[in-house]
Amino acid sequence: MARADLPVRPRRLRQTPAVRRLVRETRLHPAELVLPMFVKEGATEPQPISAMPGVVQHSLDSLVEAAREAVAAGVGGLMIFGVPAERDEIGSGATDPDGILNVALRRLRDELGDETVLMADLCLDEFTSHGHCGVLDQQGRVDNDATLERYAEMAVVQAESGAQVVGLSGMMDGQVAACRAALDAAGHTDTIVLAYAVKFSSAAYGPFREAVESTLQGDRATYQEDSGNAVEALRELRLDLAEGADIVMVKPALPYLDVLAAVAAESDVPVAAYQISGELAMIEAAAANGWIDRDRMVLEALTSIRRAGAQIILTYYAVEVAGWLRAAD
Ligand code: PBG
Repeated sequence: MARADLPVRPRRLRQTPAVRRLVRETRLHPAELVLPMFVKEGATEPQPISAMPGVVQHSLDSLVEAAREAVAAGVGGLMIFGVPAERDEIGSGATDPDGILNVALRRLRDELGDETVLMADLCLDEFTSHGHCGVLDQQGRVDNDATLERYAEMAVVQAESGAQVVGLSGMMDGQVAACRAALDAAGHTDTIVLAYAVKFSSAAYGPFREAVESTLQGDRATYQEDSGNAVEALRELRLDLAEGADIVMVKPALPYLDVLAAVAAESDVPVAAYQISGELAMIEAAAANGWIDRDRMVLEALTSIRRAGAQIILTYYAVEVAGWLRAAD
């Protein structure tokens, strides 16, 4: 017998898939998903990354092919990372127009034009022999201001190679202002600056380091943020906004949803979040053991990141999820 004194029943709105669909607050859309991609200098075949099942280091040709598939799937953009054959102290390959990342950008821009939004990782870690995101001083410490000069040069080379968005992931102080000024001085006033405003020092970057064959010893704790600090995250956000960031990002995503929500509340530019390599690895490893339902977990994680306030999500699942979303439409 139904009780007469229970007029408020939230379960009414959960009774069928159609009702649930009608009242759903948060939806994912392919246009808001950005696919990070790796391209390896000299590779002739795509090479798997063991800690990132389903993700590969591309050859230039397979990169173009996969980029076309991503565009056809409706994803909003591509974020390109280069894996060079040679590295040196200052990361020369990053500013060499013939460096792998710049070559890949040129190729993609030629093939895809304005069909997608082409983004470039702007950081030195893939290009330096020591694996740090900047250049080192005499004592072996990351030299902030000398690094800014490298980033400024890198921004201009990437823009000239066809990047429409430069993704500043190095966490140096003043990097947004330095790159903006260099881009503008070179006439690239249209180049969009995506600032990794809040990038935490995280154990979950491990698989990425395999993906880019990182040589890093130690950690990035002197430049990436301490995971306990949310107030400091907002300070980083305000600085990047003041320096002219066009889009701001929080990274990693799922362990930092509180920070993401706080950033989204304060930012007056679009907010992105990066579901990083370790977030993928955790899902894949648990799913491989039969401990979780992989596809449901992927959707739940992405929906949560969206719900917390990310308008744009960088995810290795972008193409696959875009396919699911289209099929469900
Ligand atoms: C730095 C950079 C990193 C990632 C994106 N840009 C690695 C790091 O900070 O160590 C990580 C992305 C991921 O883990 O998926 N160039």
